[in-house]
Amino acid sequence: MDNRPQWGTRAGFILAAIGSAVGLGNIWRFPATAYENGGGAFFIPYLFALLTAGIPLLVMEFTIGHKYRGSAPMSLGRMSKGSEWIGWWQVAISFVISTYYAVIIAWAMSYSVFSFNLTWGSEPGDFLFGDYLKLAETPGQFGGLVPGVLIPLVLVWVLALGVLFAGVKKGIEVANKIFIPALVILFGIIVIRALTLEGAAAGLDAFFKPDWSKIADGKVWVAAYGQIFFSLSIAFAIMITYSSYLPKKSDITNNAFITGFSNSGFELLAGIGVFSALGFMAAQQGVPVSEVVEAGVGLAFVVFPQIINEFPALNGLFGFLFFGSLVLAGLSSLISIVETFVAGVQEKFNVSRTKAVAFGGGLSALISLIYATKGGLYFLDSVDYFINQFGVAMAGLFEVIAIAWFAKELKNLQSHANSMSDIRVGAWWRICLGFITPAVLGYMMFDNLRNNLTAPYGDYPLGFLFNWGWTVAIGAMLVGVLFTIKRNSADNSLSMSKSKSKGV
Ligand code: ALA
Repeated sequence: MDNRPQWGTRAGFILAAIGSAVGLGNIWRFPATAYENGGGAFFIPYLFALLTAGIPLLVMEFTIGHKYRGSAPMSLGRMSKGSEWIGWWQVAISFVISTYYAVIIAWAMSYSVFSFNLTWGSEPGDFLFGDYLKLAETPGQFGGLVPGVLIPLVLVWVLALGVLFAGVKKGIEVANKIFIPALVILFGIIVIRALTLEGAAAGLDAFFKPDWSKIADGKVWVAAYGQIFFSLSIAFAIMITYSSYLPKKSDITNNAFITGFSNSGFELLAGIGVFSALGFMAAQQGVPVSEVVEAGVGLAFVVFPQIINEFPALNGLFGFLFFGSLVLAGLSSLISIVETFVAGVQEKFNVSRTKAVAFGGGLSALISLIYATKGGLYFLDSVDYFINQFGVAMAGLFEVIAIAWFAKELKNLQSHANSMSDIRVGAWWRICLGFITPAVLGYMMFDNLRNNLTAPYGDYPLGFLFNWGWTVAIGAMLVGVLFTIKRNSADNSLSMSKSKSKGV
């Protein structure tokens, strides 16, 4: 028995995995993505992506973490030497994501306070970009720190790093046992209220009405895969790290199914809640739902405040519940994202957990200040787009190809998973990972590259996209390679975990 930290209970692990999966991606990304990509018809590619890539990859990552008992690079390296760099690449991607993810949670924190007196006034768009973010004129300018963003950002980091300092069982597990039930209650109340608002049915109709013509469009399939990867925290190094803390006797496949279906269930709930509320706003303004739909920042911080303004009663309370949900969902995901590099740094440099949290988390917190400047929103938008388009999904593609084709490890992982679990995976699992997922992700990468080279993202100048997009995405890959080249402070064998986990 080594003394690697362990989850205290099976429920603790499952809640932590769900806490990682359910995040900003579920609440603000999924509803608009589903709507823009065929509404009801989107569920076909979405379910296909969940069943052929999402859950099979989750089973694979849980198995790798459980079998090799290390951070993502350590576990992948123990499985096959040539795969370690993919683990570091994923850790670097998570590092980049953590830097801006924390800032969005900070905005949500401010907005949960603003809810009480509807500080955003009658023009939430002007308030967000002008009064709150003090957005710079041109992309690429920093323009000084914005105190209104800086203060909640410091609070977000204090909370997240505080949980991480406390360790796996006493910190991450306890936090998720509180955050996830609280999130379900808070968000459940909003959904029930939204469903009973006037106009909700029209909103749901817009959300679920299938546009079958979209199914043949490759972009819709790409969007479904992108959503599943981001939302399930796959290829982020997270799920390998979390499952490395499972006790030796643990179920794997059933846990993956529970995590995958809970995440999609929450996503569906978010879609229902958001579109009911959009239907209500459209009815108030006498316009079709299509005129009020927005994605991402616009949906959460402009459209939702407008909806809250028009609520028949208890506006402040519902605003608080909505932004409070974003904070809870975001924090539990942020903790998991930061844990990837905490675990990686701890093992690579053979330092205590406390030092790894202080150094890794501290560095990410420092870099996150970039997005708390007046130009922050532009940097965030570009980095988020590129690290997702050319980070997460691409690292997922390299991961499956390395494991299925080069290391030829699928059969070994399958027997390990089956020897531990209630649900046994069969040949379909190997087919999904060995053929279907690489084929779809390969097409996705090709399509993304072609689109970005022919029509650059957004209205940004090319120099800006080069610095805050391409360099970041390619940089994450290079960091992966560099970290692999640097010799480990200790050897890669399984026994080393004895000396490593002292600080936990
Ligand atoms: N899985 C997390 C989310 O959906 C990262 O936001």
